[in-house]
Amino acid sequence: MSAHPDALLLARNISKSFGGVQALHNVSLDILRGEIHGLIGPNGAGKTSLFNTLTGLYEADQGHATLNGERILGRKPNEICQLGLARTFQNLRLFQNLSVLENVMIGRHVRTHTGVVGALLRTARAKREEQEIAERAQRLLAKTGLLKHANTLAKHLSYGDQRRLEIARALATDPVLLALDEPAAGMNATETESLKALLLQLRDEGLTLLLIEHDMHLVMQLCNRLTVLEYGRKIAEGSPHEVQNNPRVIAAYLGTAHEEVTS
Ligand SMILES: Nc1ncnc2c1ncn2[C@@H]1O[C@H](COP(=O)(O)OP(=O)(O)O)[C@@H](O)[C@H]1O
Ligand SMILES: [Mg+2]
Repeated sequence: MSAHPDALLLARNISKSFGGVQALHNVSLDILRGEIHGLIGPNGAGKTSLFNTLTGLYEADQGHATLNGERILGRKPNEICQLGLARTFQNLRLFQNLSVLENVMIGRHVRTHTGVVGALLRTARAKREEQEIAERAQRLLAKTGLLKHANTLAKHLSYGDQRRLEIARALATDPVLLALDEPAAGMNATETESLKALLLQLRDEGLTLLLIEHDMHLVMQLCNRLTVLEYGRKIAEGSPHEVQNNPRVIAAYLGTAHEEVTS
């Protein structure tokens, strides 16, 4: 498989197994600069495992991947984050007893010089950086519609707002590629609409997005291209239209969400 000239992320022949379960089998993926790339497939297809492998939480058994030409597999999660790949989690990972603002400020610390230790020692440089981080965090909260909740504890946010907070925190790391694991899960129709507007705005600002999502309506509206996994294998890729009409994809969803794919 040759590389596309506009590819931001290149993943090649990634495999990962857990005991007898082959979560990923020789999966290759190109994500182009500036696109919203959808990663879909039935439950258990390997979507989250691919995220976990690309972001350094799982060690791949085989394969390689680059972001902007830099090798990412085999590096630690924070190193991959510093190279520009940020992600959110299917099961939220917020600091429930910290404020909304603090949750976003923590995301930013991967980028600072003083880091968490410096911040604790309260050096002059750390204080200046802390101020800048707080201002930047506030801008991200404004962008994600959470500024009015800046001082609320994360645990008191609605589920939809907690998902937006995860996005704000990921954005605080200044990513070039933002990977979202089911961001619309648990959202009502209004929340999903505003999520859609936010993701389109981020793309228009130049961010590249990788999106795992079960809401097929949202996927078809948002994504430039899609990759489909089933039982750890890639079974299709292409435009939403191509994928939607692919007999293998329709068969993969039969009995689970056939009507969603074709509607
Ligand atoms: N940490 C893990 N330990 C054992 N099995 C896992 C682990 N992570 C994923 N799996 C297995 O890998 C397969 C793919 O899971 P997952 O990547 O979560 O799928 P998806 O996100 O597409 O629903 C499933 O069979 C799942 O049980
Ligand atoms: Mg998953």
